[in-house]
Amino acid sequence: MIYPRFLLRLYSWNQNRREKRHAVRLHPYISGEVNKVDYFDVVSQRYSCRSFRSDAVEKEKLDRVLACAQLAPTAANRQAIRIIVFPTAGREQDVARIYSRAWFREAPCLICVCSIPSQCWVRGDRKNYSDVDAAIVMDHIILAATALDLGTCWVAAFDQSAARDILKLDPAWEPVAFTPLGYRNDVPGKKMRKYLQEIVVYR
Ligand SMILES: Cc1cc2nc3c(=O)[nH]c(=O)nc-3n(C[C@H](O)[C@H](O)[C@H](O)COP(=O)(O)O)c2cc1C
Repeated sequence: MIYPRFLLRLYSWNQNRREKRHAVRLHPYISGEVNKVDYFDVVSQRYSCRSFRSDAVEKEKLDRVLACAQLAPTAANRQAIRIIVFPTAGREQDVARIYSRAWFREAPCLICVCSIPSQCWVRGDRKNYSDVDAAIVMDHIILAATALDLGTCWVAAFDQSAARDILKLDPAWEPVAFTPLGYRNDVPGKKMRKYLQEIVVYR
């Protein structure tokens, strides 16, 4: 069904009002006034880091990473996500229940991105975009962390019920992805990828 533009505007204005949205003041780092980093460098420097130093991540860096997550696009701007920051010190046994690899608990901090599927945009054919929203948020987090010289690794193979229990998740929140966040203690290996011709199709 095609809705007249003013009805869509009204709907979006009403959503903003109901959910108390506000214009985000961009950090000068994010708005590009200081410390410009090259996007293409960041994308090629990112890799799945699987060894971390125990040094804490400075609060300023964590805040910058989270501010980038906030700017991630979501379908219909629903922003039906929650980002859980979980310091690991003294909680290593809990962390091992979520994902047992030793490097996962080496990092000083974990970030878990949850979606709230019941609040996410659903396409006409009933496809719920919650995983896509959460993935984009996680990608913003990971690229921002890379730009700040921090290591990350997407983790999907975690134990969902342990994550729900340990992070005290609301039943409506679905944990989609984790990353450890910390200073890297390894070096990137070779990037193994399919040829571009295999994955790009021009029609
Ligand atoms: C959706 C997703 C889930 C992933 N889950 C895991 C995981 O559970 N454990 C892990 O060690 N790596 C995981 N990875 C990392 C991939 O193995 C890695 O991105 C891929 O091998 C490419 O390597 P690179 O990230 O170093 O470029 C995941 C990556 C993605 C995008």
